[in-house]
Amino acid sequence: MIAAGILGTGAALPEKVITNQDLEKIVDTSDEWITSRTGIKARRQAGPDQTTSSLSVEAASKALEMAGLTPSDLDLIICSTISPDMPLPSTAAYIQSKLGARDCCAFDLAAACSGFLFGMTVAEQFIKTRKARHVLVIGAEILSRYVDYKDRATCVIFGDGVAAGVLGPVEAPSGMLAAEMHTNGGFADHLYIPAGGVLKPASCETVRAGEHYIKMNGNELFKVAVRSMEDVSRRVLEQAGVSVRAIDLFIPHQANQRITDAVRERLGVCPEKVYANISRLGNTSSASIPICLDECVRSGRIQKGNLVLMAAFGAGVTWGAVLMRW
Ligand code: ACO
Repeated sequence: MIAAGILGTGAALPEKVITNQDLEKIVDTSDEWITSRTGIKARRQAGPDQTTSSLSVEAASKALEMAGLTPSDLDLIICSTISPDMPLPSTAAYIQSKLGARDCCAFDLAAACSGFLFGMTVAEQFIKTRKARHVLVIGAEILSRYVDYKDRATCVIFGDGVAAGVLGPVEAPSGMLAAEMHTNGGFADHLYIPAGGVLKPASCETVRAGEHYIKMNGNELFKVAVRSMEDVSRRVLEQAGVSVRAIDLFIPHQANQRITDAVRERLGVCPEKVYANISRLGNTSSASIPICLDECVRSGRIQKGNLVLMAAFGAGVTWGAVLMRW
């Protein structure tokens, strides 16, 4: 049986940095509150000319270069995003065209912050069954376009960013060892954008009411996030027959440093084995795990043979984990 592994990674971040001090000037908040409640000090914001597809092409090109592949080698493109360029067509279609890839299958996947791990899990099925050899999985978000900068509960959290991984067949013992995806729609109304869809089409009234912005009941999600990320991490470890102590690196979705700390403590992972960049980048939703991965690969924090555990939680609610040997 062949295994799916990551052959290359790449990231693209907008240059503009929004600090907590910048937010203090526009909304009733403080650096002290944001830092102590979330661990976030700064986040990036895309410029008017940057789009989800344009940053994706930048990230994908770097990932392909690291993998030693060209766009024409791709058999499948999966773009995980909840902030697409347009409702129609898929952002993946634009990425394919802008990259100059051939007419392989390309589609978007909407699983919010769990999206990159969902994308990896889908890609693994194609690779293992030999339906595809090289799959580009992208986590891409420009959430600043959906954030209400008058709502202090959300504008301090989210940041923009994109990262990509090229997956392909690898030799044992490398590759994905276990993966799980979960959804519980019972919590759907805790993180949502009320208008702009079929239920409530965009109108002057919905815009006036700010219903095109993200609404979040963060407090409720916090508890579910900690429980589900712990649970799904344990499940993939058990499936692979791997102990927590054997993990070399734990990359959780960067939702809130307090969530990361709680999950880490419950799992019993030592702090040195946990990667975090939330202080610099905030919550970039589906881009958060692949950005971390890319930083770890390029800095040498991930070495061949390392056991890497990734776990995510997001709107839907969705959650999942992937355990892989690099
Ligand atoms: N600055 C100052 N005060 C604030 C701010 C702010 N930016 N935001 C909220 N407050 C206030 C609230 O109004 C409240 O005041 P009150 O007690 O007078 O009513 C108080 O702080 C506490 O508010 P909580 O919402 O209870 O704060 P909490 O400690 O829960 O932190 C946070 C909020 C950071 C959003 C946290 O709940 C969280 O991270 N939740 C998880 C979010 C998540 O995981 N989402 C899913 C992934 S994202 C995705 O899928 C796109």
